[in-house]
Amino acid sequence: MIKMKTELLIIGSGIAGLNLALKASKYGEVVLVSKDKLEETNTYYAQGGVAGVFGKDDSIESHVQDTLRAGDGISNKQIATILVRDAPKRIMELKRIGVKFDLDKKGFRLSREAVHSRSRIVHAKDITGQEIEKTLVKKVKENKKIKILEYHSVFELIIANNKCIGGIFFDIKRDKILSIFSKKIILATGGAGRLYSKTTNPEIATGDGLAIAFRAGAVLEDMEFVQFHPTMLNNSNPVFLISETLRGEGGLLKNRHGKTYMKKYHRDGELAPRDVVSLFSIIEMKKTGSRNVFLDVTHFDPKYLKARFPYIDRECMKYNIDLTKNMIPVCPAAHYICGGVKTDSYGRTNIKNLYAIGECACTQLHGADRLASNSMTEGLVFGTRLIEKVKNELKKEKIVEAEELEVTISPVKNGKIEKLKKQLQEIMWKYVGIIRNKKGLNIAKENIRKIKKKLDVIRVIGTNKEIAELENMILIGQIIILSALRRKESRGTHFIEDYPERHDNIWITHLSVDKEHSKLK
Ligand code: SIN
Repeated sequence: MIKMKTELLIIGSGIAGLNLALKASKYGEVVLVSKDKLEETNTYYAQGGVAGVFGKDDSIESHVQDTLRAGDGISNKQIATILVRDAPKRIMELKRIGVKFDLDKKGFRLSREAVHSRSRIVHAKDITGQEIEKTLVKKVKENKKIKILEYHSVFELIIANNKCIGGIFFDIKRDKILSIFSKKIILATGGAGRLYSKTTNPEIATGDGLAIAFRAGAVLEDMEFVQFHPTMLNNSNPVFLISETLRGEGGLLKNRHGKTYMKKYHRDGELAPRDVVSLFSIIEMKKTGSRNVFLDVTHFDPKYLKARFPYIDRECMKYNIDLTKNMIPVCPAAHYICGGVKTDSYGRTNIKNLYAIGECACTQLHGADRLASNSMTEGLVFGTRLIEKVKNELKKEKIVEAEELEVTISPVKNGKIEKLKKQLQEIMWKYVGIIRNKKGLNIAKENIRKIKKKLDVIRVIGTNKEIAELENMILIGQIIILSALRRKESRGTHFIEDYPERHDNIWITHLSVDKEHSKLK
């Protein structure tokens, strides 16, 4: 097995990992690992933007309140206040390093998304994530203190004496195993949207960071809260998101009969929280016997529409949808996991020297549903706090090495695994999706157990990237189900028919899952 050593090991290359790598490189050597090429992350595909208080009519209090409102009563106010207070500084840093946000005479051109009571989304047309990712990747590649390992998939964390001391990786291109020992190990591995057959996430989003952390003994929290974005372009391949900004700027949701429906369910109509819009879009689809609803922006000024949303315009055109003339067929899809590895406001987990930031972390910011465009902001704010906290510890600590773990690479080809993966994704969508009930969750639990048994047989020969990914997806699927069964109320993204009243009995706030709690055998 090949061995490496570094002072900081960052796993994941979205906004959280890249921002941290750049800042951490001032204090020590950094190894930055990504499963695919650096850019292939959820950040890259983010359209809307980064939320921050810049408007004259805006305030810290207002952004905090909107965050708490989206979180449906269980976001942590202290954490939300840190995020909102630090967001403008972090966004200005991005501007300074060259991210080309849309500007007007007053400064940032701000847009609006659901549940934001003010315009506060800083954006770069409809390719905000792409613009940020490309700029950060360029900076990271220019930085001599950052060693980049692309196409390396994390397999396990290495724990010794209750401390995290490194990680084991598959070198995907060379089919080799590599261990990296480090003083600080930071998970910035993103989400798990690929657990579902309908998702806005790219293929890399298989919950690897969540699973390896859990197996290493980290606590996961709020895992029942999977956010479904109301408007994925129906039947798009590769999957394509239609940004919430279109609704923020007046886009209307209509059913197959061309009738608007959101106002009849919620006073904020199209700008109700995402969980509400997704839930009632599914209900409307069921009522009208349709596989999708429509987003109508044909009343927008055509010139403005094409200039403000060039990416969405171009992608829709590939499906012969002209935004200025046609309604866009859309459906809800898994988008973001609000829970994750439990951390404090410095990214610290319950395992010494193991940290988590970005989507894979749970700071309790998002509560039961995430406010639009708070996610990239979160990645910046808490990653920066992390390095500010640990920079002085780095000099004092030593890199610890441990016995090498023998890993046998399995020759099993992807076909078999792909079939099991598809089954898992269908089960998750059908029983652990937007509308849940106890019976369905138990069916899902049982069916996933059967998939796991089949995978265990294949796993006997050894493992590889695909097998490890599916094992991770199974584990995280099981944890989502367990968490959903334990929450005896409907709240935010967790709508369960057995408790149709939305949290009239507030009996729990955040739910943690650790190895003791889980009966995943
Ligand atoms: C969007 O552009 O609709 C996505 C924004 C987000 O997920 O915060």
